[in-house]
Amino acid sequence: MKGIVLAGGLGSRLFPITISVSKQLMPVYDKPMIYYPMSTLISVGIKDILIICNPRDVELFKNLLGDGSKYGCCFQYATQSKPKGIADAFLIGNEFIGNDQVTLILGDNIFYFPSIAERIEDNKIKEGAHIFAYHVSDPSRYGVVDFDDNNQVLSIEEKPSHPKTNYAIPGLYFFDKKVTDYAKALKPSLRGELEITDLLQIYLKEDSLNVMKMDKGTAWLDTGTFSSLMQASQFVQVLEQRQGLKVGCIEEVAYKRGYINKNQLLLLADKYANSGYGKYLISLIDE
Ligand code: TTP
Repeated sequence: MKGIVLAGGLGSRLFPITISVSKQLMPVYDKPMIYYPMSTLISVGIKDILIICNPRDVELFKNLLGDGSKYGCCFQYATQSKPKGIADAFLIGNEFIGNDQVTLILGDNIFYFPSIAERIEDNKIKEGAHIFAYHVSDPSRYGVVDFDDNNQVLSIEEKPSHPKTNYAIPGLYFFDKKVTDYAKALKPSLRGELEITDLLQIYLKEDSLNVMKMDKGTAWLDTGTFSSLMQASQFVQVLEQRQGLKVGCIEEVAYKRGYINKNQLLLLADKYANSGYGKYLISLIDE
């Protein structure tokens, strides 16, 4: 399974903060936003990750994350010249994906989902497309999914004025190897984008779109506006200070999955000696 983090976009709802730097490099409490989606992918066992960003930001992302070897992973970079839509990720990532399955995560989506790896394993993701459903109070702002008792999707609608359910579709999608061919067949929507909803509709038509309900006690946050960005930071701060555990810590996830050993973790910790982040990494060794 390969992974793509889509971290381009304009970030115009955060102007002027994001005029000269990517939204996905903004801090969410104690780490850059992209740490969260990266650690979500690594926590489900994905080591081969393509980061797609604006040409302006690519050196900054490389400077932050490198080629992934320090986390026992392999990171590659590609650029999107303008926001042509979420499904454009599969055209940009065509060669990277090759003949493999791929998981796409949006660079501004934050998941607090401790049981995610087990959920993915239980659902034996192989064929078709798999999405999550997250209960929200204001579904009209999102893509909304309706599904039956067997988690078979009945319909998906983009920002409906009369939503059929309260279940929004978060920005984390699993696809089989057919996704690049399907993406090539997509036409831009009225707003000029290759829509992820159109791609999901293709899987729905062939009866291979599955949904997993996110458990109670999990959280999905997006960070696209001033207040949601602030709320995400506060959420992470409260959780981390209360539990003494970090959310979205790439180094921790890589260590717990066995991608790096104690010595490699200590090397990473050394870099962060002044911020307290390093101390946390060292504490993982004694656990
Ligand atoms: P959005 O929040 O829809 O767009 P944006 O980030 O450009 O923000 P704004 O609406 O404020 O201008 O994008 C969701 C995520 O997907 C975000 O992480 C950026 C990413 N994205 C791309 O990288 N390329 C794209 O073409 C689109 C549509 C989104």
